[in-house]
Amino acid sequence: MPERTADDVLLVHGGVPLQGEIALRGAKNLVPKAMVAALLGHEPSRLLNVPDIDDVHIVSRLLQLHGVSVTPGEEPGELVLDPASVVQANIADVDAHAGASRIPILFCGPLLHRLGHAFIPDLGGCRIGDRPIDFHLDVLRQFGAEVDKRPQGLYLSAPERLRGTKVDLPFPSVGATEQVLLTGVLAEGVTELRNAAIEPEIIDLIAVLQKMGAIITVHTDRVIRITGVDRLGGYRHRAMSDRLEAASWACAALATQGDVYVRGAEQKDMMTFLNVFRTVGGAFDVGDEGIRFWHPGGALRALPLETDVHPGFQTDWQQPLVVALTQATGLSILHETVYENRLGFTEALASMGATIQLYRECLGGTPCRFGQRNFLHSAVISGPTKLHAAELVIPDLRGGFSYLIAALSAQGTSVVHGIELINRGYEDFLGKLAGLGARVERVA
Ligand code: EPU
Repeated sequence: MPERTADDVLLVHGGVPLQGEIALRGAKNLVPKAMVAALLGHEPSRLLNVPDIDDVHIVSRLLQLHGVSVTPGEEPGELVLDPASVVQANIADVDAHAGASRIPILFCGPLLHRLGHAFIPDLGGCRIGDRPIDFHLDVLRQFGAEVDKRPQGLYLSAPERLRGTKVDLPFPSVGATEQVLLTGVLAEGVTELRNAAIEPEIIDLIAVLQKMGAIITVHTDRVIRITGVDRLGGYRHRAMSDRLEAASWACAALATQGDVYVRGAEQKDMMTFLNVFRTVGGAFDVGDEGIRFWHPGGALRALPLETDVHPGFQTDWQQPLVVALTQATGLSILHETVYENRLGFTEALASMGATIQLYRECLGGTPCRFGQRNFLHSAVISGPTKLHAAELVIPDLRGGFSYLIAALSAQGTSVVHGIELINRGYEDFLGKLAGLGARVERVA
């Protein structure tokens, strides 16, 4: 039996196709960053379409500890963030949030601009690789910050106003790009960022900053130029909807032979996913307000797949899709090029009857940093194999959701431990599952 990591358990009675409609809220990988951006302004900001997920709760608490008032707005899912009285937080209070999320690292630039110093607790987030912060620290130093790493966390100070700089990232990191944006907007002079990440969530963050008064240009070839300004105001912004959650439900529909309308799903943010979904044999129909995803009957087709930074196939789409690939005829060959350790979840699928072999070699042509470094980052999935129920312990957010999909498509009743992890990124997933006809029962 797998080791128990949490008390909260879900019984999933599999074999029922998911059918119905779910509605997306704002993107998990944009909303917390837009909340941090409010810290840069001198006027209140209004963020709409905010999901009720743990990452939002953690960032709300951290903002409040720094004197930002965070209150519900007029419409459901609206937050009003007022940074009128930013203060240094009590370090012990901030430290109580150590290990809870990776977002605190993005407080560095805004706090340095507002207060001249910052304390950042140890980071959390999903354990899908080493997840270092070296790019972030290098960037902050380049802006002129002094960084002191201590056992409790990071102490940073800006002896004078941060200065614009030239940054060339070793990899188009989402977080490091956000770090440059949130720091460069108020730095003196021009910042030029090369090898930037250009995920849709980054472009939406740039839209937020532009509304606040920032001057940011996105050039071709991953170059972003920021002209620093002296002062930023507030914003009113409706967060883009969560394209990663959309893909998760699409894969759940496919793997359970179901039919799910995902209200709020945007074609333009999911084109690469849609191409792969169609190639595998899934069907979709793009409407004005969302996308319907379904299994059209017949066999699914195996395919070669490599994850990559945008506009490639997003790494967060990989885990839910792999469950559907266990039902495809033939050999699917997967190469994960963003995280070195994001295939551990396949062990549980194998325990449910999937045939999946992991490899250290790069099984694909996309340049990758892991091939020479002994990481199991490629997989061959041979299908179709019937999945049977199992006892599962959720390892991380996307892996966790993929376990749910596997349990929903398997024969029998699975026992899934640690479901609270899924609340980090999926709003009301139990309510949504119930609405789609899934037979699940909460145990504790
Ligand atoms: N990296 C470094 N050094 C750094 C920063 C990153 O080596 O200082 C490496 C990472 O180890 C990783 C790669 O660069 O191998 C990419 O990391 P990136 O910085 O792009 O990821 P992130 O900002 O930490 C965000 C999302 C992830 C998503 C990735 C890639 C948030 C809160 N998280 O993470 O989302 O997978 O970008 O798109 O926005 C998820 O939603 O489940 C999730 C993990």
